[in-house]
Amino acid sequence: MTISKKPIGISLLGCGTVGGGVIRLLRSNATRLAARVGAPLVIRKVLVRDLVKDRVPECERGWLTVNPDDVLGDATTDVVVEVMGGELPAYDYIRRAIDGGKGVVTANKMLLAARAHELVRHAALRGIDLAFEASVGGGIPIIRVLRQALASDSVESLYGIVNGTSNYILTRMCEDGLGFAQALAEAQAKGYAETDPTLDIDGHDAAHKMSVLAMLAFGVKVDHGNIPTEGIRSLEPIDLRFADRFDLVIKHLAIGKDHGSRIELRVHPALVSKRSVLANVSGVLNASYLEGRALGPCLISGRGAGDMPTAVSVVADIVDVARSKLAGAAGLSTSGISLEERPLVPLGEIETRYYLRFSGQDRPGVLARIAGTLGEHGVSIEQMIQDGRSAAPSEPVPIVMITHRAREAGVAAAIKAISAFDSVSDQTRVLRIEEV
Ligand code: NAP
Ligand code: HSE
Repeated sequence: MTISKKPIGISLLGCGTVGGGVIRLLRSNATRLAARVGAPLVIRKVLVRDLVKDRVPECERGWLTVNPDDVLGDATTDVVVEVMGGELPAYDYIRRAIDGGKGVVTANKMLLAARAHELVRHAALRGIDLAFEASVGGGIPIIRVLRQALASDSVESLYGIVNGTSNYILTRMCEDGLGFAQALAEAQAKGYAETDPTLDIDGHDAAHKMSVLAMLAFGVKVDHGNIPTEGIRSLEPIDLRFADRFDLVIKHLAIGKDHGSRIELRVHPALVSKRSVLANVSGVLNASYLEGRALGPCLISGRGAGDMPTAVSVVADIVDVARSKLAGAAGLSTSGISLEERPLVPLGEIETRYYLRFSGQDRPGVLARIAGTLGEHGVSIEQMIQDGRSAAPSEPVPIVMITHRAREAGVAAAIKAISAFDSVSDQTRVLRIEEV
């Protein structure tokens, strides 16, 4: 390919973990990137809050500015890369970049979860490319798979391990016996966690990503606040140990299923078989397992967070946006995104197997009452363990049951009734078991 003399100007909004990685990759791969784009990629401006702070050595001090107008009003900038995070002012800056005719690349799933529909419509109207590969799955190209490779097919279901911080914490707790706080501190030190780590551990980051995936996989506009979401904060080692005895492991999953007129979306910790394709997706690895109606099963996995893996996705987007700009085809990929409204399936209507851990007194009749109540609500038991004997009849023992497939509303009603028994504590642990 011949390389044009006229460079493509790139400016960044943000130079933290991801922005630093992007600058390093743009510089270390400059020759290869120029050949792939057909023009050199040249960094123009980098917006930050603090001009004095240390940056990656590849970042030149002369690029830094604290004035957004230096980026958004810069006539030599062709592509704006938003890696600052948060909803505002990122939304306003991206709108201004689009209005100024600049291509946009963003890694900001929080912003997309809240306002993708507005940004996509605005960019499509103006003929601007809006690329967001790094918003889900860090370095793995799941957005490209959905936007391009599966443009010919439709997705029936999708199971994602999409939060590297949660997966890292669960792996360190299960495999290395670390406490929750220590594992979280490690994930933060490695740059995996969000600025506010509660977004990771309470499941909201995964819900943000689920809404982006749902937009591409199912063509729907989803309010991420309506996705039933649970995090990993309250998981206890005792359940990880019992799960192991049933050949199950715990994963934090984002799940989406297309039911035609309705869509099922949920984000929560779930047990999966040790033989599942997702069971060995460990540490900061992310994975998406999907079923295409024509394709069948497809698994994509890789590093889901951190500076360089995420930079790989951001820079690949820069290459795409720069290429389509040079080819005079900007905006085509954005106009292909559909944003239909479809209702969500209520959680009470879903069906899975369940892991139930009761804390019950070890005396005659307790087990029979629990089993009877589950049966009254249509919940059938597949396997059960009661560990040891309590020292005194009033001391509770853990009673763990695995159910056959049951409707969530039935399980919830049974647990509510059982929690009212004098012989059972009201702290029953319920985990869904996913067949994936
Ligand atoms: P970060 O390390 O906190 O960096 C944020 C950068 O943006 C900093 O350079 C900060 O400036 C700048 N910034 C923030 N608010 C600003 C404002 N109002 N005006 C000017 N500059 C501002 O965050 P990050 O981890 O790189 O994440 C960036 C984005 O990528 C987020 O949307 C995140 O969700 C997403 N993401 C992150 C990862 C990951 O592994 N970390 C992976 C995928 C996607 P100062 O440096 O001067 O404070
Ligand atoms: N905090 C996110 C995670 C970063 O842990 O997965 C990648 O989006």
